[in-house]
Amino acid sequence: MRKEKLFSKDGCYSRVVESNALFHREAIIYGSRIIKALLENHDSTQTIKVLDLACGAEPVSITRMISNFPDRNFDYTGIDINPDQVNFARYQFQFPENIQQINIYEGNAWDPKSCLLQEEYDIIFMGLNLHHGTPEEVYYLATQISTTLSPQGVYINHDVYRPNDQPYQRRPDHHPDNINESFSLLEPALINGIALPDITKNELAWNAPDVKWRLTYSKLLRQSLIEQHAGLECADSTYKHVNMRDYPISLNDFSYIFKKADNDLNIKIIHYGKSHPLLDYIAMPVVSKSRDLLNNF
Ligand SMILES: C[S@@+](CC[C@H](N)C(=O)[O-])C[C@H]1O[C@@H](n2cnc3c(N)ncnc32)[C@H](O)[C@@H]1O
Repeated sequence: MRKEKLFSKDGCYSRVVESNALFHREAIIYGSRIIKALLENHDSTQTIKVLDLACGAEPVSITRMISNFPDRNFDYTGIDINPDQVNFARYQFQFPENIQQINIYEGNAWDPKSCLLQEEYDIIFMGLNLHHGTPEEVYYLATQISTTLSPQGVYINHDVYRPNDQPYQRRPDHHPDNINESFSLLEPALINGIALPDITKNELAWNAPDVKWRLTYSKLLRQSLIEQHAGLECADSTYKHVNMRDYPISLNDFSYIFKKADNDLNIKIIHYGKSHPLLDYIAMPVVSKSRDLLNNF
């Protein structure tokens, strides 16, 4: 993941974002409604602490949500594993003025406490990274989120999900052409012993013939990037990345894993409508310890 060109300064990810092929605009619209509900439960003088996991060079989704509330103050902490993404976010990205403090760490977003983040956050956001995790890695992340989220806080995830009725296909442990390039997101010792039978009983090996939805999804995304002017080269490199590395869990898996990590977590799934066939695969699960908060948007 670390050295992949798509996410380097020479890559084309900013064109992917601009094209809206992965529905960043919808994430901003729905995420802003969630933040509005959260702000109603917090004193207007309170600075809202935001943690952005796998923030990338241009953390547009969460910062545009924040900029919709110019009268409220926020502190922003981002984590990304790629040094050039961290440097761009630190020194070149324009954050909205209502963000008082900005901290960007180079580190592993799947183990945020390894970046020595000991405090609680009111908003934790992860955009388009969860689909890289195996169920066990997602479980570990869920345990970290449960201990890092404030009691009235919210975890917002904008991502790609496998349809609930398709079997889980496991991500390879390493690059198919290079056994020395690991795809693992966490040290094995952190996830050894995690058993998730409701997911893994339907599991296909990563090298099983591709399930139909993965082909449909990756072709639709490639086509959409071409139609939305991201360029052919960018459409092809994104298509290659998706086929090689993206083995997402389903939304049912998401709910099962987060509840198993902490039964006090409440989950609400937001869909972005049906205006595009790719929206069958993109959604925003929202997690909070406060059931009331989830009832308010
Ligand atoms: C698809 S981009 C998402 C960027 C942004 N969050 C968004 O919503 O557009 C994925 C980002 O995740 C970062 N990344 C990948 N694996 C990571 C990890 N284990 N820890 C932190 N960042 C990671 C990549 O460097 C890249 O910037």
